[in-house]
Amino acid sequence: MAGSGTAHLRPQDEALLSVEELRVDFKTATGTVQAVSGISFDIRRGETLGIVGESGCGKSTAGRAILRLGQVSGGRVRFEGTDLLGVPHKQLTRLRRRLQMIFQDPVGSLNPRRPVRRLVVEGLAATGVSARERDKRARTVLDSVGLDYDRFADRLPRQLSGGQAQRVAIARALAVNPELLVCDEAVSALDVSVQAQIINLIEDIKAEFDLTVVFIAHDLGVVRTISDRVMVMYLGKICEFGEPEAVYASPAHPYTRALLDSVPRPDLDGHFAGPALTGDIPSPLDPPSGCRFRSRCPRAQDLCATEEPQMAATSTGQYVACHFPLTPAET
Ligand SMILES: Nc1ncnc2c1ncn2[C@@H]1O[C@H](COP(=O)(O)OP(=O)(O)O)[C@@H](O)[C@H]1O
Ligand code: SF4
Ligand SMILES: [Mg+2]
Repeated sequence: MAGSGTAHLRPQDEALLSVEELRVDFKTATGTVQAVSGISFDIRRGETLGIVGESGCGKSTAGRAILRLGQVSGGRVRFEGTDLLGVPHKQLTRLRRRLQMIFQDPVGSLNPRRPVRRLVVEGLAATGVSARERDKRARTVLDSVGLDYDRFADRLPRQLSGGQAQRVAIARALAVNPELLVCDEAVSALDVSVQAQIINLIEDIKAEFDLTVVFIAHDLGVVRTISDRVMVMYLGKICEFGEPEAVYASPAHPYTRALLDSVPRPDLDGHFAGPALTGDIPSPLDPPSGCRFRSRCPRAQDLCATEEPQMAATSTGQYVACHFPLTPAET
């Protein structure tokens, strides 16, 4: 039965946002790119959901699609029960304010000619809030992200460091009082020490602003500490989904295992724990039949070419889409 394997991933009562069989296809001159190929999951109110996977696996496309900032080819996205794909334009504009996104390149995402004090409250301009109220709000949100108003209010984006610019981008998202914040590789371009500061900041404001967070990264290490649940994607599909305790300690999908092995480990003198992922990611124009990971999977068997694996629960509590998942004894 379609979707039966994922039904238990979506306790509707807790879900702030629920995604069912979401698909995004891009038509190009050379064919159709299947960027997101039928993914189902929920985002629980108040949680931080980490989304990881190699570059090109569809993380950004999925992030944009669930906020309806990007194209959607099929499926359903419900925000507090409202079908985001079906709402009229006017209602969508109002809803969008509650769904904010920040990106990898904070400087590039800010209008270069606007000073910080205006940038952070741009989202309020259309809501009829007075200039005085907006300025008050700018002070509050800049304070929340650790930027002193008097020092930063008149600076332009190019007068900010990467970390400061990302703080401004976060303040700008917070200014409209969102419920969901999607951070797309928000720390990937920053130095490691600044990454940690921004991650801590996101943790702090989460409680203060009563936020639900989706944290997208290509690096499994980055999402580990911040996530309540982790979703691993490969070539437009979900491979594994669960609490980090389960996913990191006993990864059940060979792809998750390989990703974890490709993270340099300080306890091994910065070497990898296992063979790094080999081979190229197949083209999303023509993904492999059956299991999409099979062309790179050391465990692949005949069944993997003919049948697509469905999500199923493991003995360690996460969900995995693999015909021959790793057992805890093997990991
Ligand atoms: N506008 C677009 N037109 C065509 N292909 C696209 C477009 N946006 C993304 N893609 C392709 O879709 C796939 C997923 O991209 P993306 O969501 O950016 O991955 P990720 O964020 O995980 O790196 C990639 O193969 C990418 O090249
Ligand atoms: S279904 Fe087969 S090819 Fe896919 S990850 Fe599992 S073992 Fe590997
Ligand atoms: Mg991306």
